[in-house]
Amino acid sequence: MKIRKLQSGQQAIMEKRNAIELFDIVSPLLEWYQKNARSLPWRENHDPYRVWISEIMLQQTRVAAVIPYFLRFMDQLPTIASLAQAPEAQLMKLWEGLGYYSRARNLQKAARIVCEKYGGVFPDQYEDILSLPGIGPYTAGAVSSISFGQPVPAVDGNVLRVISRLLEWDADLSGTAEKKQVAGLLAAIYPEGRCGDFTQALMELGAVVCIPAASPKCNACPLQHLCGAFAGGTQAAFPVIPAKKPRKKEEKTVFLLRCGDKIALRRRPREGLLGGLWEFPNAQGHLDPAGAAAWAQSQGICCGEICRRASKKHIFTHMEWHMDCYLIVCENTGGAFRWVTEQTLQDEISLPTAFRKFLGELL
Ligand code: ADE
Ligand code: SF4
Repeated sequence: MKIRKLQSGQQAIMEKRNAIELFDIVSPLLEWYQKNARSLPWRENHDPYRVWISEIMLQQTRVAAVIPYFLRFMDQLPTIASLAQAPEAQLMKLWEGLGYYSRARNLQKAARIVCEKYGGVFPDQYEDILSLPGIGPYTAGAVSSISFGQPVPAVDGNVLRVISRLLEWDADLSGTAEKKQVAGLLAAIYPEGRCGDFTQALMELGAVVCIPAASPKCNACPLQHLCGAFAGGTQAAFPVIPAKKPRKKEEKTVFLLRCGDKIALRRRPREGLLGGLWEFPNAQGHLDPAGAAAWAQSQGICCGEICRRASKKHIFTHMEWHMDCYLIVCENTGGAFRWVTEQTLQDEISLPTAFRKFLGELL
């Protein structure tokens, strides 16, 4: 199977032809999925709340890592109404370690809208679902097809990989327009009555058979006989990945301020990276011990001993933090900080992973 290059004017016809060929994948893929679907907690039923939460979690983390988060979330917040009413600290704690905390906040915003506007019942129309905060075409497609049986594709990285290899489609498919084009091709072949299975089958094939890296498991693939990349031995060339911009690197100095059994925390600004979350106080740049002492004094802290601790690196999607660290024994609990015991820090505070890396350096 090979994608036919689209020329303006002929686009509709060509899309139709591509869709006709692509239609051949439907039966073997569904049959394969029926036999091989992994048993996963969000597949126990098609409750839109469960599908929604799992899909948001799965956008940022692997299946194996998501399972415990998902189970804990459903245990503590089993309904849309409970999510709408959850205290922020509980929500942040449930999300701790998953990253992208704004996604958790958007979940709650959306849950509140569902309660206010739809009487607490998750809407079943694609456009209504898409209009909720934090829900884009991918998630809206997943919920529409899996929970409501509608023929709407959910195009994620897994699906793009499968389709690009099947069709040896050599464009960069990561842009919105290209994803839309893939979604359009797929929408035309969605099988009535099996829409949810088809969405999950495509994702599943990408997740366990047509895997990234150079060697997908083509010998276990139900679509081998239809696959352009298999025929051409070109699997490794697809999907075409655009050159990435290098991540911005930031140097920081993190301060573990200890006074007796209390540790200083600070809230990050509400906007921006890790917005509104707790952090260990920190400053830009790599400070030497004299610079660290001067920083502490500027914060209203009387310093005792200052010890250099291990440096750490944390990688975000678009940013790297290279963090030096000082443990400072303080003679007062001054400054604009919240001072908490280590126990409180462990049990009650959702501290982003970038800062949790220093918990072992507190002694
Ligand atoms: N990745 C994204 N969505 C998924 C799902 N529903 N099941 C398994 N893996 C996924
Ligand atoms: Fe992917 Fe190989 Fe299957 Fe083609 S044959 S869809 S490359 S796993």
